[in-house]
Amino acid sequence: MQFIKIGIFGLGVVGASVVSIIRKNQDLIQSRLGAGLEVTRAVVANPGKPRDISLEGITLSTDPATILDDPEIDIVVELIGGVDLAGEIVLQALERDKPVVTANKALLAERAREIFTKVYEKDLPLGLEASVAGGIPVLRSLKEGLSADRIIEISGIVNGTCNYILSKMTAEGASFDDVLAEAQSLGYAEADPAFDVEGFDAAHKLAILVNLAYGTMVNFKDIHVEGITAITPMDIEYAGLLGFTVKLLAIGKIHGEVVEARVHPALVANDHLLASVNGVFNAVFLTGDNADATMSYGRGAGGLPTGSAVVSDIIDIARNLRAGIRNKIPALSVIQERLRDLEIMKMDRIRSEYYLRFQVFDRVGVLAQITRVMGDNNISIQSMIQPALSDHPDDPVQVILITHRAREADVQKSLAEIAHFDFIAGETQLIRIERFTG
Ligand SMILES: NC(=O)c1ccc[n+]([C@@H]2O[C@H](COP(=O)([O-])OP(=O)(O)OC[C@H]3O[C@@H](n4cnc5c(N)ncnc54)[C@H](OP(=O)(O)O)[C@@H]3O)[C@@H](O)[C@H]2O)c1
Repeated sequence: MQFIKIGIFGLGVVGASVVSIIRKNQDLIQSRLGAGLEVTRAVVANPGKPRDISLEGITLSTDPATILDDPEIDIVVELIGGVDLAGEIVLQALERDKPVVTANKALLAERAREIFTKVYEKDLPLGLEASVAGGIPVLRSLKEGLSADRIIEISGIVNGTCNYILSKMTAEGASFDDVLAEAQSLGYAEADPAFDVEGFDAAHKLAILVNLAYGTMVNFKDIHVEGITAITPMDIEYAGLLGFTVKLLAIGKIHGEVVEARVHPALVANDHLLASVNGVFNAVFLTGDNADATMSYGRGAGGLPTGSAVVSDIIDIARNLRAGIRNKIPALSVIQERLRDLEIMKMDRIRSEYYLRFQVFDRVGVLAQITRVMGDNNISIQSMIQPALSDHPDDPVQVILITHRAREADVQKSLAEIAHFDFIAGETQLIRIERFTG
């Protein structure tokens, strides 16, 4: 039996799981591939560190050249994370004609142009399934399953930490800080959770989804990113009264040569499938012009789910190698000549419905003044709730307005004008309401 030889950078959570999966399912893989897989080399930072996996048969080193310069290595797997060294490893492996598999969303989002330009130049496969939504085969759905369709819309719950926190806040009425502390103690949130809760991890994944859906390489820095730190139990409760659930969504849509790419908390109608994706689970809702609505659901992180996606990419590339095919599927879904430079739409141009929670001192005419400003800015109100008044006349009260579809610029202008009224008692909360085509 032929063995395809693999060199892995990183034997951490994902790298060690890749080795375990290959060992555990070797026989199954051989029956599906017609060849075996063998991890012969690994590069790590601390070779002396105790590991959960046996290193038998694997030559360990700290020197990248041991993998990159070994002519026996058929496939390079990058699982160290970060954008600098990881980027150099991926570029150098491709330069040496070695196909690469990576789970590194930060690298693929922030250095997209360099990495994908090299991939196209070398006409090599780049396995990236694990970079978005861990064990859910969503990129393969996008590139292969939906290859006959124009992608009208992408809406993803792609950060398990945020979804766990929002789900717990919803179920228990608990505060963001309390749930975050619990998530950290359970290992669902990092010691430094900023990257997750401020939305950047979801934005990395959105950049990859948008690039694959629309055959482009968007400028990651142009993605609008808002996290979940400002969401309060009060907003979750009022959203519930209005028939919505609060989710952190990664949203991508195309309008001619412009794409919407934004990550922010959003109100999702309770009867939509995405509203029932809870806990650490992820889901990506894709609408194609023919297939219509599809949704993939599963575990978006963790060693084995992410390792499963990495090994499936390895198998895919190994099939190419065995068939003598250099590359079958263009990395960004389209051939090089059809790649497009698409701009990300400025936030002030997007249109949405809005949940607005005003904190006001209860005086006569407050509502009339708020709605007048909004009317002057072309915003019409769909519904309103004013929860029970406080017993203390000096305490602020909450007024919640749901708008019809409006332009973000008009909404922001209204809020800036309303902020000047002396009855405004605090920051106004704005959460966009997401409606879906499929
Ligand atoms: N964990 C997940 O659930 C998950 C899900 C999706 C995607 N990913 C992505 O997968 C990648 C790996 O994540 P992970 O969770 O497996 O990370 P991890 O547990 O921190 O492991 C990182 C590995 O890289 C090695 N490493 C770090 N710096 C190095 C350097 N300068 N030179 C050589 N080796 C170095 C470490 O070596 P030592 O072991 O010797 O310290 C370790 O084996 C990241 O891009 C991450 O975003 C992870």
